[in-house]
Amino acid sequence: MEQQPQLRAIGIGKNYGSFRALDSVSIDIEQGEFLTLLGPSGSGKTTFLMILAGFQNHSHGRLEANGQDISRVPAEKRNFGMVFQGYALFPHMSIEDNVGFPLKIRGVKAEERNRRVRHMLDVVGLGEHRGKRPSELSGGQQQRVAIARALVFEPDLLLLDEPLSALDKNLREQLQAELQRIHRQIGTTFVFVTHDQNEALALSTRIAIFNRGQLAQVDTPERIYNQPGNRFVAEFLGKMNLFPLSQVDRSGALARGRFGDAELHAEPSAALQADKPLLAVRPEHMQLHAAPPTVEGHNVVSAVLTSRTYQGASTELGLATATGEAVPMSLAVHADHHASRLEQGSRVWLSWPIEKSLLLA
Ligand SMILES: Nc1ncnc2c1ncn2[C@@H]1O[C@H](COP(=O)(O)OP(=O)(O)OP(=O)(O)O)[C@@H](O)[C@H]1O
Ligand SMILES: [Mg+2]
Repeated sequence: MEQQPQLRAIGIGKNYGSFRALDSVSIDIEQGEFLTLLGPSGSGKTTFLMILAGFQNHSHGRLEANGQDISRVPAEKRNFGMVFQGYALFPHMSIEDNVGFPLKIRGVKAEERNRRVRHMLDVVGLGEHRGKRPSELSGGQQQRVAIARALVFEPDLLLLDEPLSALDKNLREQLQAELQRIHRQIGTTFVFVTHDQNEALALSTRIAIFNRGQLAQVDTPERIYNQPGNRFVAEFLGKMNLFPLSQVDRSGALARGRFGDAELHAEPSAALQADKPLLAVRPEHMQLHAAPPTVEGHNVVSAVLTSRTYQGASTELGLATATGEAVPMSLAVHADHHASRLEQGSRVWLSWPIEKSLLLA
């Protein structure tokens, strides 16, 4: 028999009154994936996670676990580990008892339970606090208790809604490493919501980008970053400079179009059929020149410096194209780069390899 995905969402929709929070979301989640949901505030990430958890009913579609319809299975019977915002700790129990609770209800004996609870509390750095009540901990510490409680029974599937958001950088990196370790060692499937793009790129086997209740793209981090399927995805994850093309010539091996006084080239793609395709390039592929460069196989545009933002190791340059439509661009240069000392209004030239140019609709 064909292996069924661990979780399968088929055309999931959710209406709140007349408002459509989710619109026909379909995705297969395979055993052992680390799937990250990423998208703007209000795009439906929490709603989707709550539906997977069984805390919300969907208005349309079907939800399956290992081929079985679980739409009517209550949350506590789904056996998923969960960390939700506002999914509170038990206030009258100690930290230790909170973390041990999932083991207790599964009938794990006291000795084994204590061992696993202590290990988990050490992992999240709260060993010394085990006897306290939740109200005696800070917000970030409470969040770590919730993570420990979700991980302690080594569930097949973990649903985590921004579990690291209240933590400082060091602790966050420590817990990221711990989540990765658990993912590798136990093979737990993760469905994880974050606003942190670097976290998404670093942890995920796949990223699902949400936009206004729809799935804009689901792919590996590399493909989402290097081959975004549309403008929304391209601009949402990382920085992207976009040049609207006119007078597009679709006939050659390379597509050509005009931007201001420049002629830009790109490998043809489906987006070339659009009325006014955009030529897109990641800033890190661009080189900055003080005079017009002559480089074979590169696109070149001229630009004017509009802003400079010091960021420690690098300086972020704001630029606008010097001819044609004033398209805003950004580019980071090393803090020692001569351009990090240029006056605003300076004229510069930017070049990048044609093969790093993407066409987007
Ligand atoms: N109980 C509710 N009743 C009415 N509308 C709701 C309800 N819960 C969420 N919404 C709306 O549904 C949309 C999606 O909300 P959701 O919480 O899923 O977004 P999100 O992607 O998790 O956002 P954030 O990144 O800010 O957490 C929002 O426009 C929100 O206002
Ligand atoms: Mg949310």
